[in-house]
Parts: sequence; structure tokens; C-alpha cells
Amino acid sequence: MKETNTTASATAPSNIAIVKYWGKKDEQLPVNPSISFTLSKSVTQTDISYQTTNTALEILFLLDGNEKPEFIPKIRAYIQRIKHLLPALETGILTINSSNTFPHSSGIASSASSMAALSMALFDALATSDVNKEPTLSEMARLGSGSACRSTSLGWNLWGRTEQMPLSTDQYAISLNERISPVFQTLQDTILILNSSKKTVSSTVGHQLMENHPYREGRIQQANANTEKLLNILKTDDFNAFAEICEEEALSLHALMMSSKPGYTLLEPVTLQAIERLKAFRAENKLPLTFTLDAGPNLHIIYPQAHSKAIMTFIMIYLRPFCEDNQLIKDEISFNTINK
Ligand code: DP6
Repeated sequence: MKETNTTASATAPSNIAIVKYWGKKDEQLPVNPSISFTLSKSVTQTDISYQTTNTALEILFLLDGNEKPEFIPKIRAYIQRIKHLLPALETGILTINSSNTFPHSSGIASSASSMAALSMALFDALATSDVNKEPTLSEMARLGSGSACRSTSLGWNLWGRTEQMPLSTDQYAISLNERISPVFQTLQDTILILNSSKKTVSSTVGHQLMENHPYREGRIQQANANTEKLLNILKTDDFNAFAEICEEEALSLHALMMSSKPGYTLLEPVTLQAIERLKAFRAENKLPLTFTLDAGPNLHIIYPQAHSKAIMTFIMIYLRPFCEDNQLIKDEISFNTINK
């Protein structure tokens, strides 16, 4: 057999969910639909090289140029799941070199951007030309990490079946960009790094705890209703209605963690203090800002670009002091392009 070497590179953004994916069924399928937008500066760049051999697949993984063998089992499990899409990966030597533009444990999901970037690079290097690119990429990413399927295409994405959108499916995400009103095309996401310690319970374990959760059915109903409502709100300029869903979803996510068996908390006292400060400022100034949370204590402050000046001044004076070492990340939606 003649050995060949193929290389490919890809960059993918992280995303922040407004309606949250929380709970899985079967092979990495969601129990409810979710809606998110991709970020602009928080991205993963991945370079791969694939050498053909006739021996079982060998994997080398580097993060910022340093070998990290501890990530290999997760990548191997992912490759096992996508082998029906990329059968070539049974054999060969695959070298993956990945780097993130954002710090680890910063409240930004690195699994979303890294699994999306890896899927895109593998697809470019190894996919046959007869597959439909967009859905296949999203499906591959989903098999790496659920939320990653909302990171293979820029802007607003819906993952999971919902009545209102006939093309929606649990298998991959679909773009919502064609139905998004201007105000929601310019959203800013300023991420307050309130605590950067490693999470005590991973999202993967959190999803499992939804299996026998006492509020499981109620949560599925809530997420479906919020998906339907948000799909309509995104067509309008109704920021207040958006904020209501955004906060309900963020707080419900953490309430589900607290009411799991065993229950756990990822919020920190400082998260609640920052939320209260934000609400007081909003009540006084009637400005359009809201917040969401990922599976961690760091607060994402969401607002339209048109109000950036006043809201950033508030954040810098009143919220930044809550941050660990004054750290915050000024990110925004990536609607058409990534601005690293
Ligand atoms: C709270 O996609 O990280 O961020 O599928 O096990 O990799 P796995 O989980 P992951 O879960 C993300 C959960 C969330 C909400 C969301 O992004 O929708």
C-alpha cells in the first residue's frame, strides 16, 4: 500500500445557548431542542495531518503544541461514533494540533468549538464528495459533543426537533439566520470570569443526572415552549421578551443541577451578587441587557451593540470588580465572519 499524507485546518467558534440542551437520549441526541448563537473571538483552531497505514489507527493530540494524551480516549470514542461517516479512519496515523483563543474554564464551552473544528478538519481531509456538507459536519460535531453541532455554522442555530420548524431534527443543527431581526444580529456577550476553578461536576455527568430527574418532564415541556417562543421573538425587536426567556433558561439550568440526585451547585455567591447588581442597574436605567449562564459560575451579559457604550461603562465600573483578577472577555455574535 502506498502511504499518503493529507493535512487540513479549520477554525470553529464556541457558542452560547439561550435555550439550553440539558439531558440526552440514545447516541448523543438531545431530550429537548436548543437555540444558540456562535461567538466571534472565542474560537478553536485545529490542524490535522493524516497518514495512511495498514495498521490500526494511532492518534496523537497536541494542545498549543504540547502533547496531551489524556484527551485521546475522548477523541477515540468520537472517531468510533463517526466511523460510518469517515470509514478511512479505521487505520492510519492521525495527528491533531489544537489551540483555543480563550482560557480554559472561562465559562466558554471549549468542547463545542474544539469538536466543531476537529469535525471540519477531518471532513476536509477525508470525506467523500457525495455527502451533503452542512448537515454532515453538524452531525459529526454532535457525536463529539452535543453543543458542538451548533458551532459548525456561524450565527443562530437550532438543534432538535420542534413543530414550528419542519426541517428541524435531533440529528444536526440548522441555521436560523434568515429569520433573525437586526437587533439580534448584533448581540454582544461580555463574559465575567467570576471563578476560573475547574468544574466539580462535568456537563456529561449533568446530562446523565437528567435521566431520573424528578423535574424531567416539566423541563422538557419548558424547553419546548421556550424554543417555540424564542423562534418568534427572534423575528421581532422585542428584547424584553428575549431577556425573559434567556434568564428563565439560565436559572432553570442551575435549578436542575441543584435538584438532581445528588444535587450540586456550580453557581458561586459572587454570581448571584453580580446578577442582583445587573437587575438593579436595569431597573434604574431601562437599558436592554440580560444574562445567561453556561454550566459554571461565570456570567454572560448579553445586550445589543447599539447600547454597548452605556452598558460597557456600567460593566467596567460595577461588575468588573466582582471578577477574578478583573478578568472579562468582550465577545459578540459571529453572524457572518469570525473576528478573532
Ligand atoms: C449547559 O455539549 O458540553 O452548555 O454533549 O456531553 O459534550 P456533551 O455536553 P455539552 O453540554 C452543554 C450543555 C450546556 C447547554 C448548551 O450548550 O446547550
